Amino acid sequence: MLCGLGIFLPSKVVTNQDLSLFMETTDEWISTRTGIRERRVVERGTSTGDLAVEAGARALKSAGGEPADLVILATTTPDHPCPATAPAVAHRLGLLEAPAWDLSAVCSGFLYGLSTAAAFIAAGTARRVLLIGADTFSTIMAPADRATRPIFGDGAGAVVLRAGTAGEPGALGPTLLGSDGSLRELITVEAGGSREPLGPGDPDRPGRYFTMRGKSVFRRAVARMTEAAAEVRARAGWAPEDVDCLIAHQANRRILEAVAERLALPMERCALNLDRVGNTAAASVPLAMADAAASGQLEPGHRVLTTAYGGGVTWGAAALTWPSITPELT
Ligand code: UT7
Repeated sequence: MLCGLGIFLPSKVVTNQDLSLFMETTDEWISTRTGIRERRVVERGTSTGDLAVEAGARALKSAGGEPADLVILATTTPDHPCPATAPAVAHRLGLLEAPAWDLSAVCSGFLYGLSTAAAFIAAGTARRVLLIGADTFSTIMAPADRATRPIFGDGAGAVVLRAGTAGEPGALGPTLLGSDGSLRELITVEAGGSREPLGPGDPDRPGRYFTMRGKSVFRRAVARMTEAAAEVRARAGWAPEDVDCLIAHQANRRILEAVAERLALPMERCALNLDRVGNTAAASVPLAMADAAASGQLEPGHRVLTTAYGGGVTWGAAALTWPSITPELT
C-alpha cells in the first residue's frame, strides 16, 4: 500500500511567452492545443538524480521517516548512460546497500514501477519500497524544437509502498501493463545508444535529440489509456461512477478530456496540473497525485484510477484507494 508521497520541482519557470521569444510558437497555440501555460526547467548542472534525491527524501519523510529497503527510479533521462542513477540516489538518501535500479518505460515508467514495487512486496523480497519518477527532458530536446519544447517540463515525484491489507486506505488494487515495440519510432532518441553510437565527429547530429510524432501518439494514447483504465476498473469491481479521481499521465489537456469522456467521468474528477508543469514524463503521475491531494481533490478512501502512455510504446493502469497521508511538497 501507498504510505508516503513527496515531490520536487526545479524553481525556474518557463512560460509559453518565454518560449515564443526564441521559437516559432505562441502562447495561444500552446494553451489551446495542450492546456499547458508554463513548465519548470532545471538550470544547467542540475541532474535528474538531483531532483530524484529531493523528491525521494520528501516521500520518505511523508511516510514517517523509516528507511526503504528497495529503490526504483523510473526515468528516461538518467544522469549518465552508465551506471544507473538509482544506486547514487539511494546512497545520497542514506539507504546504504539497498538494491536500486533505473526503470526505463518513458512516460509509463511510474506505473511500471508501481507494479514492480507491489510484486516485490507481495513476494516478501522487499518490505518498504521507494519508487521515484524523475525526468529532465529539457536536457534531451533540441534547443528550439517547437514539437517538443512546449510540451515537456522537468520534475520528480516519489512514493513509498509497504505491505498492507486490501481494506486499508492506500491499498493498491489491480494493475495492468502493456507494450508494443512495433511503434518504437513514435517517441525516440535515435542516436547515442549501441545501434547508433555518437562518434567524436558528430556530437550535434539531429538523431541525438528527443523526437515525438505527436499526432500518432495522441490518438493511441487516448485509446490505450482508456482501455487500460477501464480494464483495471472492471477488475477492481468498480462501476464508472465509483471512481472518485482519475490521475492520468499529464500529456495534453485534450487527451485527458477524451479519456475522461470515454470513462464517463466529469473533468472535476480528473487531476489536472499540466497547465503549471507540462508533461514531466515519469514524474507526471506522482506530481498530479500530489497536486490533487494538496488541493483537497483527493481524500483518504477515495477510489483512484491512474493510467499512462509513453515511449516504447508502453502503457499501464492501476486502481488504488487514497491513503491518509500528508504529501511533502517542494
Ligand atoms: O508523453 C507521452 C505521450 N505524449 C503525448 O501523448 C503527446 C500527444 N500529442 C500531442 O499532445 C499533440 O499531438 C501535440 C500537442 C504534440 C501537437 O498538437 P496537434 O494538435 O496534434 O498539432 P499538429 O502536430 O497536428 O500541428 C498542427 C499545426 C501544424 O501546422 P499546419 O500543418 O496545420 O499548418 C503544425 O506545424 O500546428 C503547427 N504547430 C505549431 N504551431 C505553433 C506544431 N507545433 C506548433 C507550435 N507552435 N509549438
